[in-house]
Order: sequence, then C-alpha cells, then structure tokens
Amino acid sequence: MPAELFDFAAAWAAGMQQRRDARLDPAADRAFWQQYAERYDERAGDMSSIAQTLALISDLVHPNDTLLDIGAGTGRFTLPLAEQVRHVTALDQSAAMLAVLRRKAHARSITNVTFLEVDWQDATVVPHDVVLAAWSLYRLIDLRAALEKMVAATRRVLVIVSGVGGSPPHRPLIEAICGTWTESLHPNHLLFAGTLWQMGLAAEVRIVREVRAFVGATRRDIAKILAPEASPDALDTLEEGLLPFLQRCDDGWRYAYPQAVGAVVWHVGNTV
Ligand SMILES: C[S@@+](CC[C@H](N)C(=O)[O-])C[C@H]1O[C@@H](n2cnc3c(N)ncnc32)[C@H](O)[C@@H]1O
Repeated sequence: MPAELFDFAAAWAAGMQQRRDARLDPAADRAFWQQYAERYDERAGDMSSIAQTLALISDLVHPNDTLLDIGAGTGRFTLPLAEQVRHVTALDQSAAMLAVLRRKAHARSITNVTFLEVDWQDATVVPHDVVLAAWSLYRLIDLRAALEKMVAATRRVLVIVSGVGGSPPHRPLIEAICGTWTESLHPNHLLFAGTLWQMGLAAEVRIVREVRAFVGATRRDIAKILAPEASPDALDTLEEGLLPFLQRCDDGWRYAYPQAVGAVVWHVGNTV
C-alpha cells in the first residue's frame, strides 16, 4: 500500500493534534508526573492488571539479556523484568517517577537497574538486547523518528505495549462528571505496527486480555482513584454509577473490568 493511501505515522500525528492535550508539551508532561508519581501505582490498578502483558514479555527475554525500558515510570515492568534479565536501563523523562522506581528497587534489593533521566528524543543509548516501551509513546508526535531510534537501539527484540482504543465501563460516568475522557480511543497498536511496516519491518501484533482492577477500603476510595480532581458532589454521582460494577472483597471493594492491550513485537531481521 503506497504511503499516500494510508500513512500510519501521519494518522498517529493527526490523532495527537486532535487531542490538543497540554501534556504534549514536555515541560507540562513532566509537571504532571511530578505531582502524580506517588499515586501512579494505585491509579494503574493492581499488579494483576499487567499479568498477561508481563507474561508475554517474559517469554521473549533471556537471563543474559540487557533490557532498555523506555518510559519506565515507577517500574511496573522494570522491576519484575530486572529479576529475569542481566541488566535493565530504566529511562524516563520524569525525575519524580524515577524516584519512586529507585525507592521500590531498593526495597526489593534489586541492584541491576541503571536509571536514566532523559527524554527519549534526546537520549543517547547503546543497543540493548530487548527494548520495551509500555504506555509511554503518547507524547512523541514524530512517531517514525521515535521508532527508528528504538529500532537502532534494539539488538534482538522490540516490544511496544499500548491501548487498543477500548472504552471501560466507567467512561460515560467520567465524561458526565468531568466533561471529557482523556485516554486515547485510537487503535494505537495498529499505528505502531503500521509505521514499522512502512519502515520495511514486519512486526507481530498481539492482543492480550487483561483484567484491570482497582481496590479500595471504601467505594469512595475507588471513585477518588478514578476521578482524583472531582468535587464531592461529582464523586457522589460517580460512586452511585459505579455500584453495579463493584464487588466486595477482603480489602473492601474491587472494581474490575476486562481490558484488551496491544503488544507489538518486532524481531530484528524480520523485514516486510
Ligand atoms: C503511563 S506511564 C507508563 C510507565 C510504565 N511503562 C508502566 O507501564 O507502568 C508513562 C511514563 O513514560 C514517561 N515518558 C513519557 N514520554 C516520555 C519520553 N518522551 N521520554 C521519556 N519518558 C517518557 C513518563 O514520564 C511516564 O513515567
């Protein structure tokens, strides 16, 4: 298919322009993570929320590997993978997110992680056996340039994890009380694989079925995780609307829903 019929990287850039999200600005995005870092793990759901994705990546890594985690954040993937490979470079633009990651690595006596505070666009890295970018390409408007750099840094396998544009049960509730839904509704995994394809690289696209789960002592706690900035009245409405989706559990209440996650896997040498 000629690029002029469908240019995947251009579709990605158009989707980003549509969002008109203040966080497309690097400084604004860093400021966001600065105030959000300590709450990130809670908001991301419990670790079972990434179990299937982690299993997929674990199958691709070898004990002697070096792994580069681009946008490592608080280390949801970095830390379990550090226990499976020789060394991990945890790269992130946010000092606050890396501070949480450093603290968690220390608490788990994990010593084979190097921390690199830099924007991917400005980073200079040596090639790693495995390169991972999970939920972290949302700000890179020039997708092709970002992917070319990732490919150049990959010795054996590149994995990109992203949403597939799905919509969770609480989306209408959030839209009703906040007026907007900020998570991407585009099939980003296809745009990543398509851009690689237009670079001449044949990547696999896999869909992983996760269950995203939030646990809180009270129903209010769960509403606050989902809409941290909402007013008390809005939280009342959200709590009410969430009721059909909540279950009692040992720790209080649990809100869980199935979530499809896209994993794009490219093995070095696989060309179109
Ligand atoms: C949604 S979090 C994902 C963290 C982790 N990969 C996970 O799945 O839990 C996104 C992370 O990517 C980082 N990030 C976003 N754009 C980046 C860029 N251009 N260069 C480096 N880090 C970036 C953010 O600072 C943040 O820590």
